[in-house]
Amino acid sequence: MDLTHPVLPASGTFGYGEEFEPFLPPGTFSAIVPKSISVEVRCGNPPPRAVETPAGLLNSIGLQNPGLDAFVSDYLPRLQRYGVPLLVNVVGRTVEEYCTVVEALEGKHLVAGFELNVSCPNVKEGLRFGLDPEATATLIRAVRPLTTGVLMAKLTPNVTDIAEQALAAEEAGADSVSLINTIRAMAVDWRTGESSIGTETGGLSGPAIRPIALRMTMEVARAVKVPVCAIGGICSAQHILEFISVGASLVQVGTHLYREPTCLPEILQELRHLLASAGMRSLDDVRGNFHQLQDRLPDRERQVP
Ligand SMILES: Cc1cc2nc3c(=O)[nH]c(=O)nc-3n(C[C@H](O)[C@H](O)[C@H](O)COP(=O)(O)O)c2cc1C
Repeated sequence: MDLTHPVLPASGTFGYGEEFEPFLPPGTFSAIVPKSISVEVRCGNPPPRAVETPAGLLNSIGLQNPGLDAFVSDYLPRLQRYGVPLLVNVVGRTVEEYCTVVEALEGKHLVAGFELNVSCPNVKEGLRFGLDPEATATLIRAVRPLTTGVLMAKLTPNVTDIAEQALAAEEAGADSVSLINTIRAMAVDWRTGESSIGTETGGLSGPAIRPIALRMTMEVARAVKVPVCAIGGICSAQHILEFISVGASLVQVGTHLYREPTCLPEILQELRHLLASAGMRSLDDVRGNFHQLQDRLPDRERQVP
């Protein structure tokens, strides 16, 4: 997939583009990742659906979306007007449901590929695939023959070993992996004994999760050969370069778009400035330049995890 630059919006934080039109042309992003699409219309979880937490956002949207038919008839034509590739984020309850969405959208103008959401913590089925490497692989193997476009598996951080999930996706035929989705978390009011959101637990995003996302990106980039798309608390060019340093090829910006919907042009300018000031010409000069610390330690000082 040819991208003009490495920054995409993260699914669910950019709607279907129209919400951002008053702030910046949605086509300013190198590609658009719309909110997850399922076969059926989904109404989502009960409110309140989002609450601010220290340096983060806890959400429980529950994958509300207009469903496949309305996406094709109403939302896709508008997204196509933005003139940049679309990476359609897909969610389903069964392998067949993922396949139905991919088959319906394959070959449509500007649909360059699919990001399979196997990682949403806010709905019962969302994590079913993502928690089990074999289930992830089964899903990818089923979808792979249905598209000649990019197939990206969006991984959950709610596992012990995210690299194992990434490897399963790669071996099953994914062209790329993206990570991380939100981290399962909660917030309570101790006086009333009630959850601060409409469900018991939700998904944490924003700056609070960036160090975790960075560690996981490093682990996955070391494990797989396919490009890694890093997500999690990215707010600036500096952050993007940190993720590129540990091996990411591209990034998605999510929660930060709520704070700074117009942030992209500034981030891109800063990215060029930071590279130039470090005497570097492109992201390739930074990609994977993070030193494996163990390499520099004598044997007896090797870190134990
Ligand atoms: C309000 C909200 C809705 C989201 N909806 C989706 C979604 O529909 N599909 C999906 O794959 N990820 C969804 N995500 C997860 C983001 O795409 C992203 O993986 C996560 O928020 C971490 O990135 P960030 O810290 O930059 O927001 C959502 C996140 C938020 C905050």
